[in-house]
Amino acid sequence: MKCAFLRSESVTKYVINGGNPLHGEVEISGAKNAAVAIIPAALMVDGTCRIENLPQISDVSTLLSILKEMGAVIRVVNKRTVDIDCTRIGTTRATFDTMRRIRASYYLIGALLGRFGSADVAMPGGCNFGGVRPIDQHIKGFNLMGAKVAVNGGVVSAEADGALRGTTIYLDVVSVGATINLMLGAALAEGMTYIENAAREPHIVDLANFLNSMGADIRGAGTNVIKIRGVKRMAGGFYSIIPDQIEAGTYMAAVAGAGGRVVIKDVIPKHLECISGKLREMGVTILDLEDSVIVQRSHPLVKTHIKTMPYPGFPTDMQPQISSVLCMADGTSTVTEGVWDNRFKYTDELMKMGSTIRVIGRTAIIEGVSALSGAQIKAGDLRAGAALVIAGLCARGETILEGVHYIERGYEKMVSKLSALGADIKSVYIPDEPAIAEKDAG
Ligand code: EPU
Repeated sequence: MKCAFLRSESVTKYVINGGNPLHGEVEISGAKNAAVAIIPAALMVDGTCRIENLPQISDVSTLLSILKEMGAVIRVVNKRTVDIDCTRIGTTRATFDTMRRIRASYYLIGALLGRFGSADVAMPGGCNFGGVRPIDQHIKGFNLMGAKVAVNGGVVSAEADGALRGTTIYLDVVSVGATINLMLGAALAEGMTYIENAAREPHIVDLANFLNSMGADIRGAGTNVIKIRGVKRMAGGFYSIIPDQIEAGTYMAAVAGAGGRVVIKDVIPKHLECISGKLREMGVTILDLEDSVIVQRSHPLVKTHIKTMPYPGFPTDMQPQISSVLCMADGTSTVTEGVWDNRFKYTDELMKMGSTIRVIGRTAIIEGVSALSGAQIKAGDLRAGAALVIAGLCARGETILEGVHYIERGYEKMVSKLSALGADIKSVYIPDEPAIAEKDAG
């Protein structure tokens, strides 16, 4: 299903000449999926929150502009730090068109419902991987906390009789989004909330740490039972976002594919273990230091088998990137998607570059080839875009990649970071060309 809206905009493409190994150091930015939860969470705080280490990506600027529309006072302190004051938010309605571009706008449901007992929020898009992205677990949780929730004309309307009430919520699927949304709702609810079968991703812990530093009482984040004692009010404070696990993993995969030796700086190596383990099986050398990892690939890659799972399993958000690398590994690898129904659309583009991939159900069977060749290809979502950049870096000849606005939603300055490592990659701007932009949902 294509949920496209037509817009006339300038088209940027990446032009990549593959074959250069990567050398040097790259600094990892703040975590996108933590930032997109923490910015809506700031709406619940009575006072000013200073948020540091924000990644400079379009999802962050979109969310900040949504809060501003709602009445927040936002002061940019420097390129990675903002002060957000939502004391005077005067509406529980967030139905701007921009909301439909990003998945995380649905965190405003939990934030508004938790603070005001009422929310009308535009539904995020949900067809970028080719499958549906339901929110039934979010709705179930809000219902259990005493809210009535209806979805009409693409808007989720939730209403509680006064404040939300703490309760026990068992999630039928391990959902990052539902865990975050319900944690937000519960932070200012009456009494105790227990979220069972909760997601354990690093950004869940980061959100809990943010809320606790503003005065919330949340324990157990990072385990599968999160316990939230509702507080009356959260006041302002300072918070610095954790490094992006997936951005770090993407550069690790790029070095694995292109070869070379790179120090990946400002990371939490523990968060990368699930990725490092698989890269080591493929013949990549990885050295963990205190807040960096050194990745070196000097030998041919070998096959492996991967299944994506909720954290601490291998992340689904690294599935396309690792598949790109496996296209050049010796032997037959399998990659099984264990989180989403369908996340293999990008393999059609990899096949245009000479890879041999068969997708059967939720598994991609990848026969390694000795080299990929440059081609004209198109990214259909954020991580697919990153995977195709990696393929371009490894391929012989020129790759022209379209759809790079997806990449810029979630990766800070990817072109300049890769260029600094020796990659031949340029962002080429073609003005005034009409484009079909698909809704994405990171
Ligand atoms: N699910 C349900 N019902 C729900 C919610 C989820 O059945 O109410 C299912 C989904 O269909 C899916 C699984 O549960 O099969 C996991 O979905 P989850 O809710 O965990 O995903 P999400 O919160 O919508 C976040 C990230 C995604 C990442 C997934 C899984 C954000 C903004 N997005 O999405 O990140 O793939 O968790 O880790 O945090 C990306 O960054 O590229 C990206 C897509």
